[in-house]
Amino acid sequence: MDTSKVVIAIDGPAGAGKSTVSKILARKLEIRYLDTGAMYRALAWKALGQGLTTHDGDEAAKVLDATTIDFGLGDPQPVLVDGVDVTSQIRTPEIGEAASAISQFTPVRQRMVARQQELVASGGVILEGRDVTTVVAPNATLKVYLTASLEERALRRQKEFIAKGMDSEFTDVRSQILNRDHRDISRQDSPLTVAPDAMVVESAEHSPEEVAGIITKLLEAKLEAKS
Ligand code: DC
Repeated sequence: MDTSKVVIAIDGPAGAGKSTVSKILARKLEIRYLDTGAMYRALAWKALGQGLTTHDGDEAAKVLDATTIDFGLGDPQPVLVDGVDVTSQIRTPEIGEAASAISQFTPVRQRMVARQQELVASGGVILEGRDVTTVVAPNATLKVYLTASLEERALRRQKEFIAKGMDSEFTDVRSQILNRDHRDISRQDSPLTVAPDAMVVESAEHSPEEVAGIITKLLEAKLEAKS
């Protein structure tokens, strides 16, 4: 299978397993991996560090204009803000919340989408987020909406936090995810939604490797149908 030009776009709510599955697929298919959520997290990290609140979209957009966000190679994939490695700092629940809040603003979204579209223009990439199937890569080779129940997603997130040595109560994680889902789904500008031509994949009943296998089969079918 020639994957050099494919674009796989995966959207879904927090904790559905998008990152884990995307990383497996990137390795397996030898394509790049773009974590669009990490870019919103990176901006939130910088804005909070500058003492800004996450309620001013114009200010946040100005900060973004003066910020470089780069990715390195590795797992976890290094995230650099103005050359500073923030890979672990951006993975806290607080930054997740702030990223969700800051991502509501159109000036921020327009700039992020433009950057992301540049990164996927040449193909050979898997990207994941909340609007990648609908806005960032509407012409992707394959679009997937990856989902699981709230309980399942909260359990996974809690395990991730505990594995990183962070204190984590299930009920707290569950309510954080519920809030974040609500905000990401109900925002005015490009809310999280299932694109009409996306394949919905339930991740709860499968291991990440199995989900990656399902998506690989869907990709093969798409490429065959095209040829
Ligand atoms: O995927 P994540 O948890 O790292 O994303 C953090 C927040 O960033 C998410 O709650 C909403 C926002 N986001 C977005 O609005 N659009 C994307 N494509 C990716 C993330």
